[in-house]
Amino acid sequence: MHNKQKVHYVILLLSGTICGALLLPCFNALNPLSKSEQKSGVCMKRLHNKIALVTGGSQGIGAETARMMAREGAYVIVTDIQDDKGQEVAKEIKGEYHHLDVSSESEWKSLFESIETKHGRLDIAFNNAGIIGLNESLGPQDPENVSLDSWHKIHSVNLDGVFLGCKYAIGLMKENGGSIINMSSRSGVVGIPGAAAYASSKAAVRNHTKTVALYCAEKKYNIRCNSVHPGAILTPLWDPMLGADEVARNKVIAQIAGGVPLGHMGKPEDVAYAVIYLASDESKYVTGAEFTLDGGILAGSTAGPKND
Ligand SMILES: NC(=O)c1ccc[n+]([C@@H]2O[C@H](COP(=O)([O-])OP(=O)(O)OC[C@H]3O[C@@H](n4cnc5c(N)ncnc54)[C@H](O)[C@@H]3O)[C@@H](O)[C@H]2O)c1
Repeated sequence: MHNKQKVHYVILLLSGTICGALLLPCFNALNPLSKSEQKSGVCMKRLHNKIALVTGGSQGIGAETARMMAREGAYVIVTDIQDDKGQEVAKEIKGEYHHLDVSSESEWKSLFESIETKHGRLDIAFNNAGIIGLNESLGPQDPENVSLDSWHKIHSVNLDGVFLGCKYAIGLMKENGGSIINMSSRSGVVGIPGAAAYASSKAAVRNHTKTVALYCAEKKYNIRCNSVHPGAILTPLWDPMLGADEVARNKVIAQIAGGVPLGHMGKPEDVAYAVIYLASDESKYVTGAEFTLDGGILAGSTAGPKND
């Protein structure tokens, strides 16, 4: 190598080192990990150190979300009316289980007294529990034949449950802030002829979420409140519509999938991922929003003009 070339290499090497040294603080500023995390090489989980409450956490979307929350570093308080199943989920994720019928204010009150005594705070409330009315022998659910008792029962779980969940969560979260995620549905956005009370209750949840979001913002509580709107997620909720026979079941699943633009039913994890985002500080600028998780069902209409 000629001397001239050597000089060029040295200059290149030096300028590279100087540029690197100058740019390093900028890269560090963009790195979301703290200095101690960068040093230790340990990546902070998305819900690190948060205390989370999940209603209806014994199965389906609630159980899957509780598991995912725990994997992301949260301590999860699982609640439901199916105690055995709920206890199993809580044991698996090293959280705790409490019986909670979301329509009972006295049960909410004693649950929150226990959370306050034991943990002193709550960071995340996922108001997930809900019923459609077809699993619970509540009779016909169309708007012409649904009984008033059945209408009240479904609203007491789906709507009163969310109202009480928000009310008690605000009380405990307002000191330190927090995130409330309410379970609505795509049925809260469109009419459902075969599930009138369900659709009405989910529409009210969508609206109440926005009221809670604005109220907490006005009060400067640092509590965010958002709703999730799944559609066609394969969980036990669908069992009465699918039946027990494997062949018939797969046929109905295929029929439902045919009405989903993405061509298949969703999984509980598809909803859980959105809840994790809303529960985490990544969504710190998001409140009063609604998140659709439905494979595209609500994106348009099947009656649109076509060329073929
Ligand atoms: N699966 C879907 O396609 C779908 C779509 C939109 C919305 N959702 C909503 O998601 C939520 C979870 O549904 P899922 O599909 O996991 O159904 P799921 O039936 O598997 O789970 C519902 C859970 O809620 C519990 N629950 C019922 N009544 C309760 C009460 N009074 N108090 C406390 N817990 C109670 C049940 O025991 C069960 O564990 C529901 O609110 C449902 O309306 C589901």
